[in-house]
Amino acid sequence: MLLEVHNVTKTYGPQKALDNVSVSVPKGQVVGLLGPNGAGKSTLMRCILGYLPTDGGAVTFDGQDVRDGGDGMKRRMGYLPEHNPLYPEMYVREFLDFIAGLHGIKGRTARDAKVEATIERVGLAPEAHKTISALSKGYRQRVGLAQAILHDPELLILDEPTSGLDPLQLKDIRTLIKSFGEERTVILSTHIMQEVEAMCDRVIMIKQGRIVTDAPLEDILAQGGLEETFNTLAG
Ligand SMILES: Nc1ncnc2c1ncn2[C@@H]1O[C@H](COP(=O)(O)OP(=O)(O)O)[C@@H](O)[C@H]1O
Ligand SMILES: [Mg+2]
Repeated sequence: MLLEVHNVTKTYGPQKALDNVSVSVPKGQVVGLLGPNGAGKSTLMRCILGYLPTDGGAVTFDGQDVRDGGDGMKRRMGYLPEHNPLYPEMYVREFLDFIAGLHGIKGRTARDAKVEATIERVGLAPEAHKTISALSKGYRQRVGLAQAILHDPELLILDEPTSGLDPLQLKDIRTLIKSFGEERTVILSTHIMQEVEAMCDRVIMIKQGRIVTDAPLEDILAQGGLEETFNTLAG
């Protein structure tokens, strides 16, 4: 298994955000974390990235505890946070070059090549000469995706990557994420079931910090679809 989440519990004061969560993710899967606001999706992602200490249980990536992995492990993961914190005053290229530096990509030529290839990959070329503040929400989200994939991570974690996009932007971003999923392991979160149907191999529904469903998308569809399952759970 590439990733093992084993009996993870996380509390914030009296609030239990994750309650004994276990998930194993093999290489190559695209996993949709589906759940309402406050379900614990972002918390689970941050535990997987090793950013948050857990109150119980463990998370291992390629057999090593994520809290012990350091920069070496961080460079094998890419992360698009929920509130995609970009530097608005920076130019797109300047920002991505800065990110390449953070990932330890050295040498002017190698770095420029990496930045340009990533810009092409996410379809940012026509906007790459602008500052981030001048971009539409859809293009800003592409910059967020670009910084998450620039260093070719094995595991890509995308927290609500499509939230707030208009239908056209949504279609483009979904296509991009699907293409990442062909060669990488992806975990993405959403509270919209159609998103999972459009992009994922596997559905994990989370509610009040607990996993309530974990099944291949095809099984969910065979059982009458996500909408039905989701409504049953929500009701
Ligand atoms: N830093 C924090 N301090 C206190 N409570 C938090 C914090 N982060 C999240 N929570 C709470 O934990 C629960 C899960 O939150 P979160 O993981 O953000 O859910 P989701 O991403 O599914 O919306 C929510 O009840 C939320 O209010
Ligand atoms: Mg969240």
